[in-house]
Amino acid sequence: MKISVIGCGYLGAVHAAAMAELGHEVIGIDVDPAKIAQLSVGSAPFFEPGLPEVLTSALASGRLRFSTDIAEAADAQMHFVAVGTPQKVGSYAADLSYVDAAVTALLPHLAPGSLVVGKSTVPVGTAARLAALIEASDSGASLAWNPEFLREGFAVQDTLTPDRLVYGVPSGAAGEHATALLNEVYAVAIAADTPLVVTDYATAELVKVSANAFLATKISFINAMAEIAEVTGADVTQLADAIGFDDRIGRKFLGAGVGFGGGCLPKDIRAFTARAEELGKGESIAFLKEVDKINLRRRQRVVDLTIAALGDHVYTSKVAVLGLSFKPHSDDVRDSPSLDVAVQLHGLGVDVVATDPQAIENARVRHPQLRYEDSLEETLRGADVVVLVTEWPEFRTLDPVWAGSLVRTQVVVDGRNSYDPSAWRDAGWAYHGLGRP
Ligand code: UGA
Repeated sequence: MKISVIGCGYLGAVHAAAMAELGHEVIGIDVDPAKIAQLSVGSAPFFEPGLPEVLTSALASGRLRFSTDIAEAADAQMHFVAVGTPQKVGSYAADLSYVDAAVTALLPHLAPGSLVVGKSTVPVGTAARLAALIEASDSGASLAWNPEFLREGFAVQDTLTPDRLVYGVPSGAAGEHATALLNEVYAVAIAADTPLVVTDYATAELVKVSANAFLATKISFINAMAEIAEVTGADVTQLADAIGFDDRIGRKFLGAGVGFGGGCLPKDIRAFTARAEELGKGESIAFLKEVDKINLRRRQRVVDLTIAALGDHVYTSKVAVLGLSFKPHSDDVRDSPSLDVAVQLHGLGVDVVATDPQAIENARVRHPQLRYEDSLEETLRGADVVVLVTEWPEFRTLDPVWAGSLVRTQVVVDGRNSYDPSAWRDAGWAYHGLGRP
């Protein structure tokens, strides 16, 4: 099928390349000429494992092109809208200006029978509003909402082999037409018996935000238990193991630590709260405000543990911060707890040296005041406290004896509960985890 993907960020670039890989003829559109130029030569504008390979092979097949000109999307049968919906400045609500701009720009180019497919995460009610806009354009096109559940770091795999498909479609013949087209685009996943939910717009929109709200709640639940563990001497990691054996609960997303970040979970729970309040149902999900607060308190806890460890030497000490991206296998520093911790420590007068395998450049753009170091060895050298905040494999597997030979003072704050406390203590370190004795 001929398809267009509007917006070539973390979501759209992967989607465009993956759809071409599946055999479709794809044009990726973005307003940023630099991004389009980079993608056109097979270079990914951000770090995503597997993306360069898929991009290169899709471009070589001739099935994938990129352009800044939305008119080039005109002959596509399906237009995926994959632009960002960041948090509005000064508000909890989502900024829908990119989604609105993308759909408005598409309107003059929509062919009869074509389908606009929303992938962006939007407040419930957005699809119905956009469908009315498309209807009013008399283009003969229609709208479906097809939320995306990919995780950064696994985006290619999640797009090629999704764990479920959700189509929000209009009722009647238009809905059948939309479902048939989507089934054609996702023929490989459908043939592999991927669970499929065909529903209305509102449900599809809510599936996405409620999935992220649930994940955020699960993380904050275990982080709340970490807070209780801290005043009772309990160990939250053992607690998580023990409750996780109950398969109604499950161990996944019970990793207590510095908390969640990124371009999705934090802004999605805030936008959901804002939307529920607009709908007069703020109380139904008021708990998400607590989820957010618990999450932000964990960053503060890492900062407090570090400052306490430095004692009277805050201004003369060096702190090595391991990790800047919001999670491993990503260079994304949007709302990253790790970068936040580094910035807060720096603001308190600490000499912070931060390292990350992929995210230094993105971090530097946002916070040029921090000192960055490519080499792990140099980051550790002479440090008074080592703070692990993003559990990249090279940090998780750090040898406490080797690290101990480099630092000035052997104090570690394990912001992801990634280390074996006894191994570090045996190597001479003062170990501080989150929610661990
Ligand atoms: C999240 C969802 O997992 C995806 O399903 C969704 O498609 C995506 O948002 C989105 O809306 O686009 P992502 O932001 O890539 O994906 O990251 P996650 O793997 O969900 O991790 C989010 C944050 O939670 C990270 O900062 C991670 O370190 C943290 N986390 C995760 C914990 O603190 N503890 C855990 O046990 C698990």
